[in-house]
Amino acid sequence: MRIGPYSLPNKLILAPMAGVTDRPFRQLCKDMGAGLAVSEMVTANSLLWGSRKTQRRIDHNGETEPCSVQIAGADPQMLADAARYNVDHGAQIIDINMGCPAKKVCNALAGSALLRDEALVGRILEAVVKAVTVPVTLKIRTGWDPSQRNAITIARIAEQAGIQALAVHGRTRACGFSGAAEYETITAIKAAASIPVIANGDINDPHKARQVLRQTGADAIMIGRAAQGRPWLFRMIQHYLETGELLPEPPIGEIRQILLGHLHRLYEFYGERTGVLVARKHIAWYSKGQTGGGNFRQAINGATTVTEQLRQVQAFLDAVEENVACAA
Ligand SMILES: Cc1cc2nc3c(=O)[nH]c(=O)nc-3n(C[C@H](O)[C@H](O)[C@H](O)COP(=O)(O)O)c2cc1C
Repeated sequence: MRIGPYSLPNKLILAPMAGVTDRPFRQLCKDMGAGLAVSEMVTANSLLWGSRKTQRRIDHNGETEPCSVQIAGADPQMLADAARYNVDHGAQIIDINMGCPAKKVCNALAGSALLRDEALVGRILEAVVKAVTVPVTLKIRTGWDPSQRNAITIARIAEQAGIQALAVHGRTRACGFSGAAEYETITAIKAAASIPVIANGDINDPHKARQVLRQTGADAIMIGRAAQGRPWLFRMIQHYLETGELLPEPPIGEIRQILLGHLHRLYEFYGERTGVLVARKHIAWYSKGQTGGGNFRQAINGATTVTEQLRQVQAFLDAVEENVACAA
């Protein structure tokens, strides 16, 4: 899988997720086998670039290359400026968000709302590609709603504008996250497109990963929600694609090591107060499916310091470990 000058180590990409794919989580997923990890979106509104939030989103210190940064907005010139600004701050790939259905983004006619205005899509893509020397990628849904599935037209516009890869979440904007992902639409886009296509939507285990790659013929797959609290999924999928053999879930001792490492990276990146808050959702995801996880998830939200949060996490993992030992 190539994106411009970058040859990715595999076909597995962490999807951009606002509030999730910060630098610590991207790096963790890369360490665990993701070939690429796309950042949270950075707004094209330059008035917000000075905010703590944006400053953190443009921080790629120590991140394994290539760094892909997603930008969101609706105005071609503002998006071009945002692309340039991010390249100046270390972005090596610029990804344009036309896939996000979030209200805040769509009300301003950005994200997936743009898919309804094909001429504007063309102007945005051309302006951004012209503004930077790094490769530009695009992330879309299959259309605005089931009666307006125009992803193939958008793919053609993207190719003509010089976009280097197209990620497709196999749902329309109207479908939100409901229903099954339309892999058949992604198959049709791949067949029609001459640029690399990345299939996205509901890929949550190694079997599904192989099935989607085979069915769609996509050049790579993108994984979002299934990686939350399970960054080792990339390693499991890669191993399965290479050998046909299913790796077991990591033992609780390794999960402890991964989770604690993740928490320390979050505390370092955000500082104690925000770090503890951001860590809550990740801790909750890691605890999913573990015995006692429900009670633990309620209790952990009461911890407001690093010391207390780590104490509760360790106690929970001790209990899980004891449970596993008893069951063995
Ligand atoms: C919490 C969350 C935040 C997301 N934020 C973004 C975003 O900022 N930009 C974007 O293009 N897609 C965003 N998405 C969509 C994902 O990138 C992905 O397309 C979607 O979750 C489907 O993939 P999955 O089934 O593997 O999760 C977000 C999804 C989630 C769950």
